Amino acid sequence: LFSAELPVTHGLTNMALEAEAKRMIADFEYSTEDVNKGVKEFIREMQEGLEKEGATLSQIPTYVTSVPNGTEKGVYLAVDLGGTNFRVCSITLHGNQSFSLQQSKVAVPRSLMEAKTAHDLFHFLAQQIEAFLKTHHEDHFEKHRNDPVEQEFFDLGFTFSFPVNQIGINKGKLMRWTKGFDIPEAIGMDVCELLQKEIDALKLPVRVAALVNDTVGTLMARSYTSPGKTKTLIGAIFGTGTNGAYVEKLDRVKKMKAVDEAGGGTNYDKSTGLMVINSEWGSFDNGLKVLPNTQFDIDLDRESVNPGIQMFEKRVSGMFLGEILRRALLSLHQHPDAGVALFRDVTSHDNDIRSTTTVAEDSALFQQWGIDTSFLSIVEEDQSDHLRITKQTLEKELNIGAASTEDCVAVKMLVHAIGKRAARLSAVALAGVIISTNKLQEDEIVDVGVDGSLVEYYPGFEEYIREAFREIEGIGEDEKRIRIGLAKDGSGLGAALIALVAHDSAVAL
Ligand code: GLC
Repeated sequence: LFSAELPVTHGLTNMALEAEAKRMIADFEYSTEDVNKGVKEFIREMQEGLEKEGATLSQIPTYVTSVPNGTEKGVYLAVDLGGTNFRVCSITLHGNQSFSLQQSKVAVPRSLMEAKTAHDLFHFLAQQIEAFLKTHHEDHFEKHRNDPVEQEFFDLGFTFSFPVNQIGINKGKLMRWTKGFDIPEAIGMDVCELLQKEIDALKLPVRVAALVNDTVGTLMARSYTSPGKTKTLIGAIFGTGTNGAYVEKLDRVKKMKAVDEAGGGTNYDKSTGLMVINSEWGSFDNGLKVLPNTQFDIDLDRESVNPGIQMFEKRVSGMFLGEILRRALLSLHQHPDAGVALFRDVTSHDNDIRSTTTVAEDSALFQQWGIDTSFLSIVEEDQSDHLRITKQTLEKELNIGAASTEDCVAVKMLVHAIGKRAARLSAVALAGVIISTNKLQEDEIVDVGVDGSLVEYYPGFEEYIREAFREIEGIGEDEKRIRIGLAKDGSGLGAALIALVAHDSAVAL
């Protein structure tokens, strides 16, 4: 594939760099056999997670027992806290699979991510909701602020994309913070209660009706809008992080029996016989039984804040792909053989080969997490002459002076290898869910909703997933019956839809 893209090489130096890059990318190959082994292990871990607490795949019951069909109507609020931004939106569901949305977004101040008390952060969130209502729903706000009538409350869906032990549709205790947040006091607390308390203190006509993971929101949003009103099986995020939620048969969720026996059985509607499960597949195979493991994966994990945890996510999602690439490029740059090394000006006099670096000292190449996924997408996409766009991006983003065409070719080979491995691993997770739920046997079309920067912007990501599907025992030619659709900003629409099903009686699946 790559040899066609290689520029005419000028002598030994270029060939040596190319050979070394080829040797490196061989380590990223994830064969048909590997993919099939991965799927078997994924299915085994899914089952284990449904049976007991504390398994590698958390398989968290969400208490959502139905998905929408597009006829739902009403106005709902949704808020989304999952990383650096906090979003507030109101969603009007028109009931004909369409909706309109108004939203505002603010950056969460760094100081609040590490606030002393939970109150500091949640008070800030409630203030944003107040400001949003004043701007977009002034009438309603004024009318109900001081004389709130139960029915006139806005139902709010709270998308909170951190690991939460969910114990009801609007109840969940924070297990641990991730993504740079650190407010120890909040751990073990019910995050819906924390938000409701601050909303009440500001006398807002708002009720926190549902707690939602972003994958569950994506599943609901896709199901509302999916063509032909097909019920969606999976909602998956391939972005900064990766995770999937799916519709499971309630009788397979063995660990709900313990919940029922402990008196929690009245918390949810059993009539549909189904429950949406948040798999938290980012932690698939933390024991590294089947996941590929290059030296770069090992080093990345060792130097991360959570070694040994989220091992699948660390090979698949955007935040980590940039870091794997950075480590690979750095090792090629620091190659002991000057004739092989990347990003160097090489001069050769007789048999004396000398090189000087073209990388600036403050380059992101030397900084942990210095390379963003968007960099991979740009390079993968580049079809320009002599990879001009890659060259410009290396110069701009990594502060590399005059990258040679040969450098660019090596970078592109590595990007492609890392991105393709990520897509093939993504196929393992999706196929694991599709096969274990038996959906290809039960339905004509199996519908999957996806969101996230990787699947949206990385060229060919879906096609690589499909290629892997065709190699998987239990899918093969049936790959054609798997439909994958983007559910953009699913977390807003999805959270509104869950607020709706939480409030009304569920629309049966
Ligand atoms: C991380 C979180 C998970 C979330 C995913 C995608 O894996 O643990 O809850 O769904 O990121 O944002």
